[in-house]
Amino acid sequence: MSTQIKSNPVAGVQEQTLTLLVRQVRFEGRGINSYELVDPEGAPLPPFAAGAHLDIHLSGGVVRQYSICNAPRERHRYVIAVLRDERGRGGSKALHEQLRVQDIVRVSRPRNNFRLVEGARRVLLIAGGIGVTPLKAMAHQLDDAGIDYEMHYCAKDERSAAFAEEFEPMRASGRLHLHFDGGDPSAGLDIRDLLNAPADGEHVYYCGPGGFMKACAEAAQHWPAGTVHFEHFKAPERGSAEHAANDANDSFIVRVASTGQEIEVSKDQSIADALLEAGVTMETSCCAGLCGTCKVRYLEGEVEHNDCIMSDEERVEYLTACVSRATSKVLVLDL
Ligand code: FES
Repeated sequence: MSTQIKSNPVAGVQEQTLTLLVRQVRFEGRGINSYELVDPEGAPLPPFAAGAHLDIHLSGGVVRQYSICNAPRERHRYVIAVLRDERGRGGSKALHEQLRVQDIVRVSRPRNNFRLVEGARRVLLIAGGIGVTPLKAMAHQLDDAGIDYEMHYCAKDERSAAFAEEFEPMRASGRLHLHFDGGDPSAGLDIRDLLNAPADGEHVYYCGPGGFMKACAEAAQHWPAGTVHFEHFKAPERGSAEHAANDANDSFIVRVASTGQEIEVSKDQSIADALLEAGVTMETSCCAGLCGTCKVRYLEGEVEHNDCIMSDEERVEYLTACVSRATSKVLVLDL
């Protein structure tokens, strides 16, 4: 297997990227292709757990994150599925247009911010649209582990739902429930009703578009702490309730704890950009608070987090340098 090593001298991190072969491209549903990536020599790939994603490096320096959707027991391949989003930032369109069978593609090793927690007695998986990808890997992992689960997959219609063939045994066994709303969410799955009464030891995982995420979050408010898990595949719009702006829009100072270097972060800059401009290496990938690549510990200061991945417990210790802002005048980073 061909690997490249990229060093991050500040964080002391060495990140390996993998060079993989596109072995198969499959039509999975309207606008959705899956891509099977394998080692060119047939070697086993680094292991992953359900919920992991890959950074895919496209031409022109474009890097995008996609969840791995096959079973973690499969060591010979990673499968990702990509919905072509005409209104997105261009990554999915580029991927659909550029990636062909037999192409070589550079990807990160699997990273995971959305793991199944251990000890659940029962698991509920709720997918909206292309948010099905990490949950599909979870369903495979739960199947293999013999853990009781139920999956709900919401899509506009049958043609927009991916993995019909692969999902058929799961549907036939009663594990998977498909919900088609014809484009009107109020005509689809009643999420509030589904999440009404959590069972003892039950955990819920959900992933989907903005409105779906909001509906799930509201419906799961009364679930016990630590039992609700989710992943955004797109950052919520700035200015939405989840990203209410405050005085964190002002400039502030970041101090590098190991050197004492002080760097001003202007109101138009991210912490990561300001660090890079000052010569401090900071690895980034999604630049949207989605992947965790730029996660860094802070030692002093008040933070407006803005990421979509960390729990409240993590936020006491860490921030994401691509989207977090300081609400104090100085922020000390453990770099
Ligand atoms: S670069 Fe992805 S969270 Fe910051």
